[in-house]
Amino acid sequence: MDIKIFKDLNEIGRAAADIMVSHISSHGKTVLGLATGASPLSTYKNLIKDYENGKVSFKSVISFNLDEYCSIPASDKNSYNTFMHRELFDHIDIPEENIHIPDGNPEDPSAFCAQYDEMIKNAGGIDIQLLGIGNNGHIGFNEPSDTFKKGTFIVNLSESTVQANMIYFNSPEEMPRRAVTMGIGSIMQAKEIILLAGGKAKAQAVRDMLKGDITPLCPASILREHPNAHIFLDRNAASLI
Ligand code: GLP
Repeated sequence: MDIKIFKDLNEIGRAAADIMVSHISSHGKTVLGLATGASPLSTYKNLIKDYENGKVSFKSVISFNLDEYCSIPASDKNSYNTFMHRELFDHIDIPEENIHIPDGNPEDPSAFCAQYDEMIKNAGGIDIQLLGIGNNGHIGFNEPSDTFKKGTFIVNLSESTVQANMIYFNSPEEMPRRAVTMGIGSIMQAKEIILLAGGKAKAQAVRDMLKGDITPLCPASILREHPNAHIFLDRNAASLI
């Protein structure tokens, strides 16, 4: 594992964007696995800056997002679809047809989940997967549980996740209690992974990920078995390791 400690999330964002831009520049076609939340925001800002400065084009990039809320429409201001367009896609030249974000309200959930995994496979698999980490050690929306899930699935959100993400909603009732997420198996198949974590609230989860048992009770701990994972932390997130 490549564990690096940075001053803050801005520095982390630059380093993560550099890895992505250098892959896109040298390979052309690149499949990116993308994440939402506060942690990747500075990565997206740096990707947009590099695009505006002519350093990179996203025309041959294909993206797959990790997760999406159920029970709100894709057009909702709090959907991950809206987040991704607002924070990244609307500002770069990625073709709309190359963007994949899970459908939070599929008619046939198990068919949809199988199809999402199939689409990732057909695109050649994910080259670089960006991840944040939840306060409880979740990645994507893989909540602490007694098994590591393989493929994309529908999950009941844990109380800790509901509490952490509620701040974005007008009222607690509006916060969805279910989500669709890539499974741990899908995430682990990515050729390269970059996990970003900043702030004291992440310190215990980071410690459990790096120093605790490898267990589905801390889903991020499985990343220790990945052959090419970068863990980029700020000083606060790294304060307990
Ligand atoms: C959400 C997302 C995760 C994200 C996590 C941490 O639950 N589903 O993919 O990593 O929040 O978010 P933040 O970066 O805002 O702390």
